[in-house]
Order: sequence, then structure tokens, then C-alpha cells
Amino acid sequence: MSKLIDKGKTVFMNTYAQFPLVIDRGEGVYVFDNNGNKYLDFVAGIAVNSLGYKNDKLEKELTMQLSKLTHCSNLYWNEPAIEAAELLVESSKLDKVFFSNSGAEAVEGAMKLARKYAKKYLGKNKIEIITMKNSFHGRTYGAVTATGQTKYQKGLDPLLPGITYCDFNNIESLKNAINDNTCAVLLEPIQGEGGIKPANKQYLKDVRKICDDNNLVLIFDEVQCGVGRTGEMFAYMLYDVKPDIVALAKGLGAGVPIGAVIANEKVAEGFCPGDHATTFGGNPLVCTAAKVVLQELNKGNILNNVREQGKYLRKKLNEIKDKYDFVSDVRGHGLMLGIECSIPVKEIIAKCIEKGLLLVGSGTNVIRFVPPLVISSEEIVEGISIIGEVLDEII
Ligand SMILES: Cc1ncc(COP(=O)(O)O)c(C=O)c1O
Repeated sequence: MSKLIDKGKTVFMNTYAQFPLVIDRGEGVYVFDNNGNKYLDFVAGIAVNSLGYKNDKLEKELTMQLSKLTHCSNLYWNEPAIEAAELLVESSKLDKVFFSNSGAEAVEGAMKLARKYAKKYLGKNKIEIITMKNSFHGRTYGAVTATGQTKYQKGLDPLLPGITYCDFNNIESLKNAINDNTCAVLLEPIQGEGGIKPANKQYLKDVRKICDDNNLVLIFDEVQCGVGRTGEMFAYMLYDVKPDIVALAKGLGAGVPIGAVIANEKVAEGFCPGDHATTFGGNPLVCTAAKVVLQELNKGNILNNVREQGKYLRKKLNEIKDKYDFVSDVRGHGLMLGIECSIPVKEIIAKCIEKGLLLVGSGTNVIRFVPPLVISSEEIVEGISIIGEVLDEII
């Protein structure tokens, strides 16, 4: 195994701090390394593998589509894309879809659409986008500028002009950031990379009202918290606040790379043919994956499971908090949960991996729990018992 990793180190750019693990295959909520070791997966490819591994329906539909047509470009229509877009429109209660290839690209598309719409209908000086401190929106230039954390922006100057930041969950800070040139507000209903920090319910309602009062486009980045992760199809449904644009990716393809921008009719008018495009976006293969994910979620069982198991995992995490002084908070929604610790979590995560549990950090000293949406209570018990063993060793 280490020979393979050594080879990897010679051929890859030095961008990732990777664990010394070569993942070979997956089944259900477990993955296996290339030595045959089994790991319970509370990471799910960072909130991506929503249906778990080797999902029968996904495998069957993708195999069928693969043998038929993988790609044809957006010069032509394809049926899986139309069906996936229709499912997104129905489930989001928004009107128009653009398919991207990743989360960052979905955020780029959302910001471009907001500016196009605002310049066209509200005045050509309407270019400023307000985003939140501690947010994360991706690594392309626009998305990394929108990201309200300087650690991701170091050495990249000059960043995209026209983006300002305000404090998350602080309505006065947003009010103070608005000026005559503001066109949009972009936020994650639950900050994912920033340490699993959910918006307060009243705050999101107030943000919506401020956007309405000031003619601002409200964009939700649901790349991490969308597509069933919270127990609702979209996190904004949990808050009962509808955005003008939502950006999706991660769980939408259950491991196949696809993102989407969905907008209401009015704002979607901002784009005309030629304004935005991507070669791979919406190809029949990736849209088949999105179609299967949305059909499976629409059946309701998986969303019910997220609510039920999310509640159960939270209860178990609260028991951990009660037992260990250095665990200071449990937060999140559905199966997007985090525990905040007063000690660095790197060692805890490394020891859990050694014992067969995959976990990922987030923000500062937060352990994040984003398992496949199909996880069972037995599997939660198994994971929690490994964490308990590791915490007992550490204290
Ligand atoms: C909220 C949010 N937006 C955008 C992104 C970027 O997505 P991608 O890595 O697919 O470009 C991420 C990735 O973690 C994310 O969590």
C-alpha cells in the first residue's frame, strides 16, 4: 500500500494532506482499503455518497446509461437531463435549472446570474454581493472570494472585486453592509466547512425580508446541506424561507460529479443564450445519477431515515458531550452534525481511522458527522462506540 502512496506523491500536486489510506471499494455505509480493511464511513466522501455505496438502483441505471450515451454536449437535448431538471424544479418549488460539474461552479453560476439579473433589471451599478464571514463556497476565483475565510485566499490576490462580508447570524451586520450597489446576499443555511454552524430561524426570515425590501437576490449555497442532508429535500424547507437561487452539488449525484443552480422565473431571466455554459454540465450520465437520487429521496423513506437517525445520532453525541468535559457543543440538523471540542480533533480522527471509523474535521476543533443518508441505528451505535473508545484513551 505504501508503495502506491509513494508513487502518488511523485505524480500529484501537493494540494491535499491525505491520510495514508487507499480506498478500494464500498458497500452500504462501509468502505474497504486495498488491504481489505473495513471502515465504517461517517464522512461519505464529504457529504457526497448520499445513497451509500453500491446502491443497486444507481448501479443499474448508470450501467444502462453508460452503454447508451455518456455525453453529447449542450448543443443538443438529452432525456436524463430534462427529467433530472424537472425533478429539481418540482422538489425545490423554484423554476429553472442550470447543471454544473461541482459545487464551486454552482456558486459561480449563482453569482453570475445574480449580477446579470441585477444589472439588466435594477441598474448597471448593481454588482456587489454580500457573503458571510466563516463561510465556504469553493476554490474557483469567484467562489474563493465569496468564501469569508482569509486562510483560503492567501497568495491569490487580486480576488474578484465587488464582494463584501458581514457577520453570520447577525442581522445588523447585514443591514450595515448593504449599499446602493448591492445586488445579492449569498449564504449557507448551515455553514459546513466553517464548523457546522446553522443559521438561526428568525435570522434567515429577516434576511429574506431585507432582501425583499431592498430588491436583493437571495442565494443559498446548499452544496453541503441540500439534497436531503437535513431531513428535508433542501435545508431552506426546514427554515420555511425560500431563496431566489439555490446552489447544489455533493449529494445530488451520490458520488457522480454534478452540481446545479436553480432559480425562480424572475431571476432566471437574467441569463440569455451565450451568457453561461459548461461542456460537461448536464450530460446524460451524471443526470441519470441525479435523477435516481431525487427519485429515491422523493419516495420519503430516506428523508424519514435522516430525521430519525439524525435525532438518534444527536442524542448519542449529547451523551458524549455529557461524559467528556472537552466536548463543548453538539449542533447541526439531520445527518449534518458536529461536535465542538476544546482540544485539537486531528488526533481523535486519526485514532478513529485506526479503529475502523472514518470521520472528518470542520472549522476549528469540530468533528463533523455526515454519513450516508441510509445509515441505520446499529451502524450509529458501532461508530459511537469507536469514538468512545478513542476518547477514553485520549483523556
Ligand atoms: C457549502 C459549500 N459550497 C461550495 C463547496 C464547493 O464544492 P466543490 O468542492 O464541489 O467545488 C463546498 C465544498 O465543500 C461547500 O461545502
